[in-house]
Amino acid sequence: MKPVIVSGIQPSGELHIGNYLGMLRQAVELQNSGHYTCIYSIVDYHAMTGLLPAKERAAQTLDLAIDMLAAGIDPKKSILFVQSHVPEHTNLAWILGTITSMGDLQRMTAYKEKVAEGKTPNVGLFTYPVLMAADILLYKAEAVPVGDDQRQHIELAREIVRKFNSAFGKTFKEPRTITAKAERIMSLDNPEKKMSKSIPSGCLFLHDSADEMRKKVMSATTDSFSGIGYDPEKRPGISNLVLIYSEFTGLTPQEVVKKYADIGYADFKRELAEVIINALAPLQKERRALLKKKSEILRALQAGAKKAQKIATQTMEEVRAKVGLV
Ligand code: AMP
Ligand code: TRP
Repeated sequence: MKPVIVSGIQPSGELHIGNYLGMLRQAVELQNSGHYTCIYSIVDYHAMTGLLPAKERAAQTLDLAIDMLAAGIDPKKSILFVQSHVPEHTNLAWILGTITSMGDLQRMTAYKEKVAEGKTPNVGLFTYPVLMAADILLYKAEAVPVGDDQRQHIELAREIVRKFNSAFGKTFKEPRTITAKAERIMSLDNPEKKMSKSIPSGCLFLHDSADEMRKKVMSATTDSFSGIGYDPEKRPGISNLVLIYSEFTGLTPQEVVKKYADIGYADFKRELAEVIINALAPLQKERRALLKKKSEILRALQAGAKKAQKIATQTMEEVRAKVGLV
C-alpha cells in the first residue's frame, strides 16, 4: 500500500475559505498527486460535541460530503466516508483513552477556546483529541493535512503513539502534520483572530453569493498605513487579504504587493473580490449539480466506509492482540 494520508472535517456548518485554503485544497492536491492512499472522513462523532437537532445534523453531514466532492475529492481516488459508519474509530478511541493523560487533554488550546466561546465542556469535547488520534492511527497514517489550529492535536496523537508502542510493542508510527502555505487565514472583520465558523461575520463562505463576497471583502478591516503591504505581524488585515489574493492566483504575496504598489485599499479590495468570485465559481457550479445527486452520494459514502473498514478491522485485530483483549 502507498503511504497513507488521513484527514477529517467536522460537519458543523458551511465551509469557509480558511477551511478551503488551509486544508481542503491541500487534501485534493495530495489525492491528485497519486503518491498516497488518501483517507478522508466526515467526522460526525466529533461534531456531536455540539448539540444539534437530528434533522440538521443529518443535513450537515450530506452537505459537507457535497462540498468535499465539489472541491475535488474524488471517491474513485480517495476513500471518502462518514466516521460513524466505521465503529472501529470509537473502539480504538476507548483503548487510546486509557493511555492518555488528563493533563495532556487539559492543555489542549482548542478545548480551552471552545469552552471560552461558551461551548458546554462535555466529556466528548474533552476527549475529542483521543478520537481524532484514533481516526489517524486506525489507518497508520504517515501524514495529516490540517490547518495550523490542529497542530497540537497531532502532537498529542504522536505522544499517544509513543506511549502505546512502549507499553504494548511497536504498532503505530508517529504521524506528521502537513500544513498548507495558508495554514491560518484570519477573520475579515477581526484579523487578530483566525477565520472561524463561530464568528460568521468574518468568514467568506464557499457558497456566499458574489454580492455577499463583494460586500464582505469591501468592508474587511485594514489599517491606516498607506499602500498595500505584506507584514502579518504589523499589518494583519491587509496582509491577510494579500495572502488570500496570492492563494487564489498563485502569485507570491510579494508579487501581489508589487502589482498593486500604486493602488488604494478600495481598488485592491474590488479586484480581490472578483478574483475570489471567479476562483470559487467552478466549485459553486459543481455543488449545484451535486445537490441533485444525493442518493448517489450516500451510496458513494457507504462504499467508502466499506473500504475504510477493511483497513480498520485489520488494525483493530492487531491492537486487540497487542493489548490482550481475547
Ligand atoms: P474545522 O471546520 O474547524 O473543523 O476545520 C476543518 C479544517 O480546516 C481543519 O484542518 C482546520 O485546521 C482548517 N481550518 C479551519 N479554520 C482555518 C483557518 N482560518 N485558516 C486555515 N485553516 C483553517
Ligand atoms: N479536529 C479536526 C478539526 O476540527 C477534525 C478531525 C477529526 C481530524 N479527526 C481528524 C483532522 C483526523 C485530521 C485527522 O478540524
